Amino acid sequence: MGTSRRQTLVAIGAMPVLAALPHIARAQGKIVLGFSQIGAESEWRTANTESIKSSAKEAGIDLKFSDAQQKQENQIKAIRSFIAQKVDVIAFSPVVESGWDTVLMEAKDAKIPVILTDRSVDSKDKSLYVTFMGSDFTEEGRKAGRWLLENYKGQGDVNIVELQGTVGSAPAIDRKKGFEEIIKDKPRFKILRSQTGEFTRAKGKEVMEAFLKAEGKKINVLFAHNDDMAIGAIQAIEEAGLKPGKDILIVSIDGVKGAFQAMMAGKLNVSVECSPLLGPQLMSAVKDLMAGKTLPKRIVTQEGVFPQETAAKEFPNRKY
Ligand code: AHR
Repeated sequence: MGTSRRQTLVAIGAMPVLAALPHIARAQGKIVLGFSQIGAESEWRTANTESIKSSAKEAGIDLKFSDAQQKQENQIKAIRSFIAQKVDVIAFSPVVESGWDTVLMEAKDAKIPVILTDRSVDSKDKSLYVTFMGSDFTEEGRKAGRWLLENYKGQGDVNIVELQGTVGSAPAIDRKKGFEEIIKDKPRFKILRSQTGEFTRAKGKEVMEAFLKAEGKKINVLFAHNDDMAIGAIQAIEEAGLKPGKDILIVSIDGVKGAFQAMMAGKLNVSVECSPLLGPQLMSAVKDLMAGKTLPKRIVTQEGVFPQETAAKEFPNRKY
């Protein structure tokens, strides 16, 4: 696939010149990868960006990096620009699941392979992308639910509030689904309120304040779809005069350093791991693709669960 494009030259006037910058990288023998990142909403995302940038450098891949600032339209624009630049491979982490078919078809028509990392799309036509590498978000929601069922000590109704991730995103949809699947046969576990905190600390705090205003001391558990929202909510809980991790049990997802610090301070009860360190895997997939190898359609990241009791021991090993 890459060889013919690699050799593509266009004529401007009488002189054949390199068509665009990616061709210069190719002339230097480098693979050109266009990557559209969602933004910088969380500690997780920052670590993911760093992993992609550093591993591209290490692999000698020319990375065209674009930050979409949480907007699908910006990701679509970036992908179109990668197509126009004739990059070798396009990779992206889709902010939401739907609405990608047209632009993915444009990439397919241009014969540029697309790799999905971190989040997937809901396209029926699976030929629109080569592989999807990242976590099993539904399983993460299940792990959070299982931990809660196994570790909740109190009697009677268990009133849960839920901070969801970005509306329409795969992790928000799947984590909710996985968590609900586990608690659905346990009627005493009830989700009282559920709202998006957009995967950010600021919004997590704001929404938790509203939950506390509406439900007050009735809240027994917070399930946050990521650590950043949990950390924001911890502030709200403390400002309301309650003890996070004790008066309100907190279950969240990611396993970022901030969550480990909160666990070590006794303010967060468990974090289900979701690894952002997808860069090395992505770069080796890009190289395999360019070498004509077939990739598995789905590459699932292996991850653990870190309860508060393990935090101090695990903290020194954390890479993000
Ligand atoms: O897609 C992964 C999710 O996106 C992470 O859990 C969250 O922190 C991030 O913003």
